[in-house]
Amino acid sequence: MRPFSGRRILLGVTGGIASYKTVSLARLLAQAGADVDVVMTRSAREFVGAVTFEALTARPVHVDLIADGHALDHIALAKQNEVIVVAPATADFISRAAAGRADDLLTACLLANASPVLIVPAMNDRMWSHPQTVANVAHLRRLGYAVLEPGTGPLASPDEGAGQGRMREPEEILAAVARFLEPAGALSGKRVVVTAGPTREPIDPVRFISNRSSGKMGVAIARAAKRRGAEVTLIAGPLEVPVPEGVSVIRVERTSEMADAVRAALVGANLLVMAAAPADFRPRAVAGAKLKKSAGLAPIALEQTDDILNSTRDARPKGCVVVGFALETNDILANAAAKLESKGLDFIVANDATETGAGFGGDTNRVTILTKTTKPETLPLMSKDAVADAILDRVELLWKDGASGR
Ligand code: CTP
Repeated sequence: MRPFSGRRILLGVTGGIASYKTVSLARLLAQAGADVDVVMTRSAREFVGAVTFEALTARPVHVDLIADGHALDHIALAKQNEVIVVAPATADFISRAAAGRADDLLTACLLANASPVLIVPAMNDRMWSHPQTVANVAHLRRLGYAVLEPGTGPLASPDEGAGQGRMREPEEILAAVARFLEPAGALSGKRVVVTAGPTREPIDPVRFISNRSSGKMGVAIARAAKRRGAEVTLIAGPLEVPVPEGVSVIRVERTSEMADAVRAALVGANLLVMAAAPADFRPRAVAGAKLKKSAGLAPIALEQTDDILNSTRDARPKGCVVVGFALETNDILANAAAKLESKGLDFIVANDATETGAGFGGDTNRVTILTKTTKPETLPLMSKDAVADAILDRVELLWKDGASGR
């Protein structure tokens, strides 16, 4: 049985004595059918030779950002992998990763990467329990990285203690990798529609009304749904981030265009996630020619745009799960609960626009998920990719427990 056949894994190796176990891990991954790209730090090569990994994975091992006078394409290397595993992850590597450094190939791959990351620490027990390492590990977790806690027991070097710090065994790491790869396919056969970004309502041919939405949250959801095997349609206003590969994209500008695109995409859909921030107001009349300063300032009369969730309600197929967002500045839970009800949603994902690290623009979010039947669930501050996975996990649960309640 080759359960990882065709799956792509980037295996990062840093300079710790436990890297002798990573040799077995590389062998297990390759035997399971995975294509394994090994990236070693310079100090890792003091412990194990690159040829050992090359022989086991039948692929070249990467060490430097610059090889043979050419810059290695760390972006492509990071993008083509479905999961990054760093084993062993030394205290130094964890510190550099937590600081967002990109001073070697492995840390550069982490920054260029959008896939799940599994960090497998191995170090002396005193280093593991040092408050600096504890803070670094907590920060990595907030960024959405999974950390496989080291075990207790004799450390590799015989003169060291037996506290916590021992790298997990290759079989345990393999099982953790399998958990990352499993979700792919869990949404296969499902049609998922995601909206992302702001819309723009023109004032004249060059000016518009819009908002600060970057589209990152919607794009993260589209990417996660695609990774889980769904057929994904992303309906996007102007985005600040690239669209994920393999997702069909419909570009729109105005709220009414987004509403039309949502209505059309809902045919046969199993899930709609409205992560977009459509403009709620539009000028009553759009000037045909650029408004000239010399003509003086005239007030711009506004009118409300359609609420997309409400105006497309009749187009929702039976059983289609609908997830909305609520970006609030005050009375967050009460406002979100009211929108859950008035917009006929299964879930609403609420966040506080005033909180640092949450909401528009950034790469992280702290959200509270409300449903009609469960208590509000506040998740810790995490990457938007991790929030996307948390939302899809709950949608999958809903499907497991029976179709949407509507
Ligand atoms: N939404 C929508 N159509 C709009 C505006 C918002 O479908 N014209 C969706 C958003 O995509 C989101 C949910 O409704 O999923 C809540 O959006 P939000 O901006 O929080 O609420 P509004 O309904 O616009 O209400 P208000 O701005 O008054 O808070």
